[in-house]
Amino acid sequence: MTSNEIRQKFLDFFKERGHAVVSSSLLVPTDPSVLLTTAGMQQFKPYYLDEVSPYGNRTASVQKCFRTSDIDEVGDETHLTFFEMLGNFSFQGEYFKKEAIEYGYEFITKEMGLKIDYVTIFEGDEKTEVDNESEKIWKELASDIEIKKAGREDNFWGPTGDEGPCGPTTEIYVNGIEIWNIVFNEYNRNKEGDYIKLSKPGIDTGMGLERLVMVMQGKNNIFETDLFASVMEVAENSRIAADHLRGAVFLLADGITPSNSGRGYILRRLLRRVVAKGFGDFMEKTASVVIENYKNFYPELEQNKNKIFEELKKEKEIFDKTLQKGLKEFERGADPFVLFSTYGFPLELTLEIAKEKGIKIDVEKFNEEMKKHQELSRTASAGMFKSGLADTTEETKKLHTATHLLLAALRRVLGGHVVQRGSNITAERLRLDFSHPEKLSDKEKQEVEKIVNEEIKKDLPMICEEMTADEAKEKGALGVFEHKYGEKVKVYAVGGFSREICSGPHADRTGELGKFRIIKEEASSAGVRRIKAVVI
Ligand code: SER
Repeated sequence: MTSNEIRQKFLDFFKERGHAVVSSSLLVPTDPSVLLTTAGMQQFKPYYLDEVSPYGNRTASVQKCFRTSDIDEVGDETHLTFFEMLGNFSFQGEYFKKEAIEYGYEFITKEMGLKIDYVTIFEGDEKTEVDNESEKIWKELASDIEIKKAGREDNFWGPTGDEGPCGPTTEIYVNGIEIWNIVFNEYNRNKEGDYIKLSKPGIDTGMGLERLVMVMQGKNNIFETDLFASVMEVAENSRIAADHLRGAVFLLADGITPSNSGRGYILRRLLRRVVAKGFGDFMEKTASVVIENYKNFYPELEQNKNKIFEELKKEKEIFDKTLQKGLKEFERGADPFVLFSTYGFPLELTLEIAKEKGIKIDVEKFNEEMKKHQELSRTASAGMFKSGLADTTEETKKLHTATHLLLAALRRVLGGHVVQRGSNITAERLRLDFSHPEKLSDKEKQEVEKIVNEEIKKDLPMICEEMTADEAKEKGALGVFEHKYGEKVKVYAVGGFSREICSGPHADRTGELGKFRIIKEEASSAGVRRIKAVVI
């Protein structure tokens, strides 16, 4: 059976049993407590509680899911970041344990013709009693099935985020792997952590399509199924590249773009790992195959094709620029903090490359340095700084960082005589006064803009270090040097491009700035010029 047939069989099976077939929701969930959609029940969460389901009380779906928790397992036989989850759902007590178990049993043994190894049920603990009812139902259904009992860790599910429906589960194992999780939503967990019994319980089931296809097609791992075969071919048989690029394509199709926080950072990590592993050149081809394979069931892939290719190319270009230099850094001693701060290598990536090269990495030292860096930027963002900035909104942080880049670019284009003579930042624009004897030519202005935008594109982190003013001076940091002997100052650095004494606050990374533009260049006073600029 092909994966397309299996998907269809599942939906048809439940349609014939009165379920409304509902399309997958986006990977960006409406549920604010989670970053990405991780389960089929998420789009139905309110219908387990008070809200009336517009689809009726029986639904079935194939849901796009993404789980970062499994990212380190990717590459083994059964784990993925992105996967499709087959599920059937019952709300407001429409049906409960008996029907749910019977449906599961019938679909697996009759429709799929598979043999169940064993099933598990909840063994009970101080909060929730043992699930004798499920045990009884399984026994009546098939007296030869082995029933194992397990605790909360394995056989109690939910909620997603910190509140919502949850309950004990029964799980079906085939060929030694868990393929179907049937959740009995008997409780609603509230924010305080109390489990409130629902007056009308619900059913939420989830079966990983890739795993089901693997056992149906008699394969040893998910990458050998028809879902992956053609993708693996173009991804040069790298399981990680195949998984990550497939996931990235789906994230991009749902409107997520690479960035340095939240969902965008998850996407960026996937793509940087692919590029660092040397699979960057196959990105586009792999993405085409993924789109081709899935476009009938997920039309959003074809609809967003151009944007997907564009973003993949952009991210590859940004990272490619620093990657080679970063890899050279490994030969110089592989300091993970330098790799992170100057070359944009996530720690996970550094550890991975180090392992391949047989180099040991001092993670503890890295964590200490990160903590120091984060504490300093937190202090800065909390407004505990002396530089007299009017407010600390995101815009002014970006403009403040842009001011550092601008000063460094001016020194590069006009010469080392350029020093800062004044600065003023509003939410809309930056203003920098600097020493220079004459009006800037159009060419000089363009050159300055170009350099600043290049540094933005490199997406380098703003690194803050604390040191004495003398040390700062020695390191060539620009800034005011009238400090008392031994007094500590903060030095903000952008790669090797800019280093200034400053108390912040700054954007975390230059990539956040967008595009830099000079809007005015004029005289300020004798021998001092003034530039006004924006980031958009
Ligand atoms: N919500 C459960 C799971 O994600 C069953 O769908 O495993």
